[in-house]
Amino acid sequence: MTPAAWVRDHADLLPVSGRALDVACGRGRHALWLAERGLNVLAVDRDAAAINAVREAATQRALPVAARVGDLESGDYQLDAAAFDVIVVIHYLHRPLFPALLAGLRRGGLLIYETFTRAQAHRGKPTNPDFLLEEGELRRLVQPLEIVDYREGLFEEREVASVVARRS
Ligand SMILES: C[S@@+](CC[C@H](N)C(=O)[O-])C[C@H]1O[C@@H](n2cnc3c(N)ncnc32)[C@H](O)[C@@H]1O
Repeated sequence: MTPAAWVRDHADLLPVSGRALDVACGRGRHALWLAERGLNVLAVDRDAAAINAVREAATQRALPVAARVGDLESGDYQLDAAAFDVIVVIHYLHRPLFPALLAGLRRGGLLIYETFTRAQAHRGKPTNPDFLLEEGELRRLVQPLEIVDYREGLFEEREVASVVARRS
């Protein structure tokens, strides 16, 4: 349940209070970590069992995490606009969601995103191109946010692209 290194490595950029969103949160490793750092967190995933695990962990640790079951691809679950100081998306890609992610940030808010690139298909899963970024694609998808940090390549044995970007 350790947060991704890309998220931990940018901890100094995070606000000490405010609202955060963990998109496709799984069992909530980032949601719980952000809440421990003082943020009020909304965590969303379509997997009800994973959301139950997030709720249990948050309750046990008395952390401010609201965990919701929601399908982010069907259009049934809408992200609030200008609502979040931090949005974290790790190892999840649904390209049509980007406009809502960008709109979900408050002014000054940070998007922290990392997921697999095409090169990952040569190493293992995922192999479906729908879930794999093309070279330079993440940089384009976050326009017009201000890019604070960016990388692409092999990190922690995964081929990924990673960005930290700010809504100015
Ligand atoms: C590889 S896991 C990553 C989980 C988490 N972000 C992490 O880094 O630990 C991908 C997650 O995306 C979620 N997911 C996939 N499709 C989804 C959808 N349409 N709506 C919401 N969540 C979805 C899965 O249920 C799964 O928990």
